Amino acid sequence: MQVYLDNSATTKIDKRVLKKMRPYFEDKYGNASSIHFMGQENNIKIARCKKEISKILKGMADNIIFTSSATEANNLIIKGVMRANRGKGNHFLISAIEHPCVLSSGRELLDEGFTFDYISVDERGILDLKDLKKKIKPETVLISVMAVNNEIGTIQPIEEIGKIAKEKGIYFHADAVQAVPYLKINIKKWGVDFLSLSAHKFYGPQGMGLAYVNRDIKIKPIIVGGGQEDGLRAGTYNMAGIVGMTEALKLAYSERSEYVKKVKSLRDYFWKEVAKKIKNIRLNGDLKNRVENNLNIMFEGVEGEAILIDLSVAGICVSTGSACSAQNLKVSSVITAIGIDPRYMNSNVRFTWGRYNNKKEVDYVINKLVKTVERLRKFSVIK
Ligand SMILES: Cc1ncc(COP(=O)(O)O)c(C=O)c1O
Repeated sequence: MQVYLDNSATTKIDKRVLKKMRPYFEDKYGNASSIHFMGQENNIKIARCKKEISKILKGMADNIIFTSSATEANNLIIKGVMRANRGKGNHFLISAIEHPCVLSSGRELLDEGFTFDYISVDERGILDLKDLKKKIKPETVLISVMAVNNEIGTIQPIEEIGKIAKEKGIYFHADAVQAVPYLKINIKKWGVDFLSLSAHKFYGPQGMGLAYVNRDIKIKPIIVGGGQEDGLRAGTYNMAGIVGMTEALKLAYSERSEYVKKVKSLRDYFWKEVAKKIKNIRLNGDLKNRVENNLNIMFEGVEGEAILIDLSVAGICVSTGSACSAQNLKVSSVITAIGIDPRYMNSNVRFTWGRYNNKKEVDYVINKLVKTVERLRKFSVIK
């Protein structure tokens, strides 16, 4: 049996999405910047897609910029906003549990004379609002906090952060990659100026993201060239990707309630059974304040990587942290930030459910996991 429980790393593309994308590979291949009718038809399609997306996000269509990924969107927002607003200040704030693409963008700016501070989180991974207020300086330009954490699924108090940012006249960016469709994104209500999304996290194509950018705020492009996206992101428009992302987002929200109910019931059943059958385990984060498809569990005395490999041999895909850090066996910065006892640091495994999972698969994983942990604990040198 093959079971995919790594839906926070990426999701299988929905066949309905693929169907909408296909004509843009086969017949409608005009370059959307071309003057002829094939180009202009696609140009109009892009505008329609932006309109449809902005309706869902409760934002403005003109503020949407299509990118190759959320990694690119986050790089554009953080570097672009800081570089364009030097006159306002040189300081920014990011939470201690951001995705590596936010952390690395921040670190790269240090070489250019910018400074930043990490906003701490509590043991559940929830942002400490007092620490946020304490770390704001007169020269703070931007606050960047993810709506949902990719490793432990924690939901952040985005609206409250938005209010603080507004009061202080600071720009606010929310990486909402893991929020779809669990949170009803509302750009106005959230008080965000910038937001990023990635299509492959909600059954859309890989290699497609978007940056929502408040056009009243100055921002410098990071990719320059042919002047696409009003000069903010050069490069030929990815028509199939844009159409696919739009369709995937529409489906994600139109089917939201049944989807969330389904993943929650599979996740809760798994947790109930695993907590009953395996001793000395611990849930990272908080069962209530997390998205409905995520569990991040520590198994005392066993390496998370060893569990992952054992399960993989049995046809089961899970992860130990974010897909981007799974290659380097460093302790997760998220697990470090929530203050886990160093003895358990490397024993966590992330299980993330999705649209195509079922109960039979969950029973199979429970059975394999119980045996794996039992077996690995026999050999464990970590006591
Ligand atoms: C919270 C978060 N931000 C950003 C990204 C990067 O997205 P992409 O794969 O589109 O580069 C990810 C991917 O895992 C993520 O989980």
